[in-house]
Amino acid sequence: MNNIILCGFMGCGKSTAGQILADDLSKRFIDMDTYIQDREKLTISEIFDRYGEEYFRDKEHEACKELSDMSDLVIASGGGALTFRRNADIFRKNDTVFFIDVPLDEIKKRLKGDNTRPLFKDEKKAAALYDKRYNFYTEASDYIIKGIHTPEETAALIGDIYKNL
Ligand code: S3P
Repeated sequence: MNNIILCGFMGCGKSTAGQILADDLSKRFIDMDTYIQDREKLTISEIFDRYGEEYFRDKEHEACKELSDMSDLVIASGGGALTFRRNADIFRKNDTVFFIDVPLDEIKKRLKGDNTRPLFKDEKKAAALYDKRYNFYTEASDYIIKGIHTPEETAALIGDIYKNL
């Protein structure tokens, strides 16, 4: 309730900007992936390897339900979370959702050499996923922050909108 949710593709800056935003607004920051990892005592890659994506999505859905019952958080959602209707519906009710919309070429640059993201291992598959997800992000969000910005700029743009709500 009354939380700020950041959504968007892997590498769009949800976690970095989210932490800065939370500090600026004196709210608590929660990274959804970290929340799930702490619960499962496994990394995201380990969860995918051991139990598969469907299991991860169920844990992610549980996290969405639990976090939406809490208040005054800034939440960096996992890149897939808000592409599922069941999760988007939870946050659309009482929270404010921002889509950080960064072009794919920039995301590729940022995630070069990253091996913590099971769904970004194959660049072609990741590009197809980016296209497939785009409309889900726009539909799930109340506001869109478009373009290439530093985390500080992204946090400031979101903060300005939020403070004027
Ligand atoms: C995923 C994105 C990841 C993490 C998991 C699945 C996705 O989060 O939840 O690897 O489906 O896009 P980030 O967006 O924080 O990388």
